[in-house]
Amino acid sequence: MRLSCNDLVSIDDLTDSDVDVLMKTAASFRDISSRQIKKVPTLRGRTIINFFMEPSTRTKTSFEIAGKRLSADVINISGSGSALEKGESFEDTARTIEAMSVDAVVLRHWSSGAAAKLADLIEPHVINGGDGLHQHPTQALLDLLTMRDHGGPLSGARVAIVGDISHSRVARSLIPLLVREKADVTVVAPPVLIPAELRQLGVSISYSLDEIIEDVDILYLLRVQKERLQENLFSAREYAGRYGLNRARWQRCSSECKILHPGPMNRGIEIDDWAANHIRNLAAEQVANGVAMRMAIFYLMIGAGEGG
Ligand code: CP
Repeated sequence: MRLSCNDLVSIDDLTDSDVDVLMKTAASFRDISSRQIKKVPTLRGRTIINFFMEPSTRTKTSFEIAGKRLSADVINISGSGSALEKGESFEDTARTIEAMSVDAVVLRHWSSGAAAKLADLIEPHVINGGDGLHQHPTQALLDLLTMRDHGGPLSGARVAIVGDISHSRVARSLIPLLVREKADVTVVAPPVLIPAELRQLGVSISYSLDEIIEDVDILYLLRVQKERLQENLFSAREYAGRYGLNRARWQRCSSECKILHPGPMNRGIEIDDWAANHIRNLAAEQVANGVAMRMAIFYLMIGAGEGG
């Protein structure tokens, strides 16, 4: 089976059936990463370009590892060191990549809409590795896999997404996916960090972490971008005081509650050291699942059904 979409730009590109097969395929690929020889020949002869115009540790590395574990050739391009630095346009760089007969391009870009633009420009499959404030669909998928690992189906699970929703591409991908899964989603943030369109998505809104903290199964913390704190007239200290997950707040959570964070964590702002280091913080599992999920995406986009 292959994914129903040619490109993965938005979480809305995936049908429910796509999501289910991605979850199953990713779970089955996890075993490869625990072997001594972490490589299978599934995508031998395929070529993947990792085109990253913004900093990344988790997404970039895990896409590269995922491709290599499936034996694809993976080539990294970044803004620095490429002809973009010499003034080449995004369009010309895209057509140059296409001319090299590649199978898939993973794009991380600072501009919302860049992944859709690339998908319109070139024939190879495009996978959005995060574009501006728009979407980060593969992050949402690996998050869902991690949540399912710890509680089974998400139907009825109480998930609080805490932080800068307005500027979060992670939230824009994760919230619709969790709503599709019938999770009970509450977003928690200062009013200035909650976008108006959120009300149409069928989620609850809270301005107080303290009011909801005892009634959640999953606390999903978003990174607070330091530049946004100044823009929105509150300090990191004020944010940490009202919305940061610290030891006192964590001890009010249910004994089954889990913490997820897409990373990178700002210790001392949205999470303190004690909560960040807690055994029920699943950030490392999210990273491990990121490799498996990205293997599944490559396989179901450029491998399955072609003798892969
Ligand atoms: N979660 C995430 O996108 O992290 P990176 O910026 O390190 O890729």
